Amino acid sequence: MANDMMKTLVRTGRGTPTGELLRRYWVPILLSSEIAEPDGPQVRVQIMGEKLLAFRDTEGRPGLISEFCSHRGVSLYFGRNEDNGIRCAYHGLKFDIHGKCVDVPQAPQVCEKMSIRGYPCIERAGVVWGYMGPADKQPEPPGVEWVNLPESHIFVSKRLQECNYLQAMEGGIDTSHVSFVHKFEVDGDPFHQGTKANEYIKKDGNVTFEIERHDGGLTLFGRRNGEPDSYYWRVTQWMFPWYTLIPPFGDHALGGHVWVPIDDHNCWSWSVNFHPDKPLTAQERQHLTEGKGVHCEYEEGTNVPGGSFRPKQNKDNEYLIDRVAQKEKRSFSGVFGFAAQDASLQESMGAIQDHDAEKLLPSDRAIVMARRSLYEAAVALQQGVEPPALQPEKQCVRAAGMLLPKNEKPQEWAKVHLADAATQPVYSL
Ligand code: FES
Ligand SMILES: [Fe+2]
Repeated sequence: MANDMMKTLVRTGRGTPTGELLRRYWVPILLSSEIAEPDGPQVRVQIMGEKLLAFRDTEGRPGLISEFCSHRGVSLYFGRNEDNGIRCAYHGLKFDIHGKCVDVPQAPQVCEKMSIRGYPCIERAGVVWGYMGPADKQPEPPGVEWVNLPESHIFVSKRLQECNYLQAMEGGIDTSHVSFVHKFEVDGDPFHQGTKANEYIKKDGNVTFEIERHDGGLTLFGRRNGEPDSYYWRVTQWMFPWYTLIPPFGDHALGGHVWVPIDDHNCWSWSVNFHPDKPLTAQERQHLTEGKGVHCEYEEGTNVPGGSFRPKQNKDNEYLIDRVAQKEKRSFSGVFGFAAQDASLQESMGAIQDHDAEKLLPSDRAIVMARRSLYEAAVALQQGVEPPALQPEKQCVRAAGMLLPKNEKPQEWAKVHLADAATQPVYSL
């Protein structure tokens, strides 16, 4: 059973149970800036194994269509983006943003039969989102808080991660790893330094979790020792099907991720920072652009429209591991940077982790529950049960960090302070 579950969860191609589930949600596809100009260059993008082409048409509308021409399979990457469509360079068939064939120069009468797959798009938070599921099931745009903030308040980046999305996402759910691999990073990083959160995290690596399952996903309450009369709780959110929200650090910008399969061996790790109620400062934005916090620096020439967005620290250079820094306790593993630390460990598990060989610990309860939630939803969908958390209001939750008296239940606290999160102050230490 466990085995079947994992084999099901890591496969996301069209027609697979998990693939069909994920296709029922809006998918972050690429940065809006990758197709900045109307009639500008189209770019290739692969999502859940599907090879797609993204472009902006003459009217400025984003389009997401199959990469290949319906005539004889040529890549439309080599086509012409003009007059509200892409014209195949081989024999001139033309397709609009919906994938509808609008011209067959040789045989206009067959035009209707020549359409290719096209997916509806929206733009939010500087990102083009696509909907890849059945047309009559298209949900409302995501209700996740950062997705709906003004662009001045958010910074979004993406990086290639060379492993299955699931093991990458599990790193976002498992906050106990922060006390180890990120331990020495938190003091120097501009988005973590100078906070009480750091002190508690470093002092107590033995997190115990309480987990609450709700309509939108899971709320994970991680308990560490706080002050003599209190516990320090870090509240992580996992929302269906691939969002995580990182518990905050002091007054620093809030953070989160989205983990999207490129294929079953690679994923996009989307990283976000935001302030709910004020713009990011110029200084913050500069640090974020430089790859600080949960973002990264890129291998030269890869962070361009349609590029691979491969991090500068990658498996070919052992993530620039520095054994001296490790010895001197400047880096726990010798790798620097949150993103590279996570990627180095998660990619080291292999493209798809060998789940038969893993031996889980009590601190893994959160990832076990996330796996189960996804799996149950995927199986239920096969039986005709609609997926969970498609309603935007179910996705509007927030992460938090707080001290509570030892006898107070964090679930009770969260009911008051985190329900309807957008109307609340940020709770952070
Ligand atoms: S292959 Fe595209 S028009 Fe012939
Ligand atoms: Fe991490």
